Amino acid sequence: MSSTQLSFPPRFVWGAATASYQIEGAWNEGEKGESIWDRFSHTPGKVRDGDTGDIACDHYHRFAEDVNLMRDMGIKAYRFSVSWPRVIPNGSGPVNWVGLDFYDRLVDSLLVAGIEPYATLYHWDLPQELQDKGGWTNRDVLGYFADYSACMVRRLGDRVKNWMTINEPWVISFLGNRTGEHAPGIKDEKTALQVAHNLMVGHGMAVQAIRADQPNANVGIVFSLSPAEPETNSPADVEAAQRSWERDSGWFLDPILKAHYPAGAWKERGNLVPDVKPGDLALTSQKLDFVGVNYYFRTLVNAKGTVDKIPGSEYTEMGWEVNAPSLRGLLNRMHKEYKLPPVFITENGAAFKDEVSADGQVRDPRRLNYIKDHLTQVHEAINDGVDVRGYFVWSLMDNFEWAHGFSKRFGVTHVDYKTLKRTVKDSGKWYSRVIKANAIVSDAPTAAAR
Ligand code: FCB
Repeated sequence: MSSTQLSFPPRFVWGAATASYQIEGAWNEGEKGESIWDRFSHTPGKVRDGDTGDIACDHYHRFAEDVNLMRDMGIKAYRFSVSWPRVIPNGSGPVNWVGLDFYDRLVDSLLVAGIEPYATLYHWDLPQELQDKGGWTNRDVLGYFADYSACMVRRLGDRVKNWMTINEPWVISFLGNRTGEHAPGIKDEKTALQVAHNLMVGHGMAVQAIRADQPNANVGIVFSLSPAEPETNSPADVEAAQRSWERDSGWFLDPILKAHYPAGAWKERGNLVPDVKPGDLALTSQKLDFVGVNYYFRTLVNAKGTVDKIPGSEYTEMGWEVNAPSLRGLLNRMHKEYKLPPVFITENGAAFKDEVSADGQVRDPRRLNYIKDHLTQVHEAINDGVDVRGYFVWSLMDNFEWAHGFSKRFGVTHVDYKTLKRTVKDSGKWYSRVIKANAIVSDAPTAAAR
């Protein structure tokens, strides 16, 4: 890329994202209840190298340091998630004031640092006690989720204006309940599809609960979207890509933004389809103030299935193809096919192998380029007419990457898991300059200045 600066709209929100289980640690402190990720990671064989989030980045104890780090980086908005069992240990019933106080203090320190909080209510750490009652397949859990959401908004709603109900219903449903790669580790497609449906209904109930308490809150949901693209223009490939899009993305976008399931995929799923109660689709399609898009990679599809290794493409440590233009395509497609509220890129980033050099620096040019190329596409999408309001890099710091444990580093800040020392990587330093300029700046400031 040249050093030409691409400027963003004046109030564009520059942020960084994390999630409770991935960074907090303190898994059994402060009267916190057990979550399904505690149970899962404590079960041998579930997470790589037996890693757990017991300590993770120790953010629970170091949050003040982390807030200062963000302030020093110039980060304007912080997307974090609340651990439901930290606040309501059994999922329903008594509130744990110690847990609630933690988020209270976090929010206060963010505001003192001039950082706008964006809170996600569910980023996968369901109270284990609720899983023991059937988890998201049990409709009572939807009501408990709405109650918990109301509890959070009552406590923090005077200061937190931006709320996300659920992070990535696709991942929760399919990795948690179809492949079993994530907690709770169930491998049953029918269960996965019922969970998907119930999550969307639970989302709608939470939206109502939040609005009942804070009518002016900005409320949204976060999708993981991997746009399916045909390998060639052959009708068979194009049709296969459309089917794949409907099964994975349309399955969630349509009930939420159009109040129905995609007809083709519904038919294809035969008797695996979920039980839908009267009124459910009115709930799933509550009006939203924004939608969050988490984008990492596209899915290339041909008539035989998904293309795994695309010749000539770059891949990250996750085995995910790097393809920034698809993000622009995705945003335009959503803009065209749906009555889309404003969009935030709520996650985007990449795992690469990083090392701290002898001079204490972390040079991560591939991550920097990944973020720069994706931001360029976001900029293009805004020019195309898509109302993108902000960008949250995934992630503020290296953290517990679910079934991959600590083996995958996504941070723009490096975390030494022995000492827990944080070191801002080159990508993070560059991101600071982007925020300051409100523009995509060159990654070679000294050369450009000369
Ligand atoms: C997303 C998750 C996030 C993180 C990134 C890499 O699916 O929302 O927690 O693990 O992937």
